[in-house]
Amino acid sequence: MAQKKAKIITFGISKGGCSKTTSAGITAHLLSQEAKVLAVDMDGQGNLTQFLTGVDEICDVFEEKTILEAIKEQNITKYIVPVTENLHIVPSNDYLALLPRYVYTKATDENKNLILANTLAPVIDQYDYIIIDTPPALSEHTINAISASDYAVIMNDGSKFCYAAIYKFLEICAAALENGNPNLKVAGILFSIVDSRTVDTKAMIQLVDSEFEGYRFDTVIQRRAATKRLAVYGFEKNSELKKGIGEYINFVEELKERVQ
Ligand SMILES: Nc1ncnc2c1ncn2[C@@H]1O[C@H](COP(=O)(O)OP(=O)(O)OP(=O)(O)O)[C@@H](O)[C@H]1O
Ligand SMILES: [Mg+2]
Repeated sequence: MAQKKAKIITFGISKGGCSKTTSAGITAHLLSQEAKVLAVDMDGQGNLTQFLTGVDEICDVFEEKTILEAIKEQNITKYIVPVTENLHIVPSNDYLALLPRYVYTKATDENKNLILANTLAPVIDQYDYIIIDTPPALSEHTINAISASDYAVIMNDGSKFCYAAIYKFLEICAAALENGNPNLKVAGILFSIVDSRTVDTKAMIQLVDSEFEGYRFDTVIQRRAATKRLAVYGFEKNSELKKGIGEYINFVEELKERVQ
């Protein structure tokens, strides 16, 4: 059997709009500067696919060429799309909404949560990192993602609703640990789209530090127009790239240490 190589990292939280996709995409981009990275889009919104490939018409361009078909074949190999030499992606589109139906009609009881893990297995020794983006729900998509992962990064936008969602995300991590993925660890909680100077953010950081001691990444990703505009301008020929991804350089260094 091939030696396992890739560290598999899921970005998740059930609260919507907390920078899961933006953080997963920038992390995949930065890691790929010195490592082989496969990004896997497990959200039918296809935002990671759009972000990294620049393709907006994901239903047309990636028709029947997505993670859903890969899962049905239990082999991701044919569905890998190169973005750069070191960064590859397996796209998704709206049809990923059909995943639960597939899981409950076709998958056996033992592999309901492990169909993504089994799908990734053939390429696991070809990458240094596999980065998985998930939808804002504790759905089969997210459960399969964390069941396939070595680490989870829990996103937090500093809001009360997102704070409450941390407990729920930790619960499904505990369930995944018990039900087939004994390797899963929480890499940490990443604050994003916040203004560290505000009283609210300071209070939320304090609360997270007291409730989840040692979990929070020291790097706090600020709300920045240049980061938001990355979705428009991308990573190539973007004059404000440095501003847009600046803080993520420190985050990725922290992440690399935590997933050693
Ligand atoms: N640091 C940031 N500063 C400013 N805007 C940001 C930042 N990070 C993300 N955004 C923007 O916030 C919005 C939500 O981000 P994103 O789509 O990454 O969140 P998400 O958690 O993946 O959302 P969903 O739950 O819908 O999947 C997007 O418009 C994105 O461009
Ligand atoms: Mg998203």
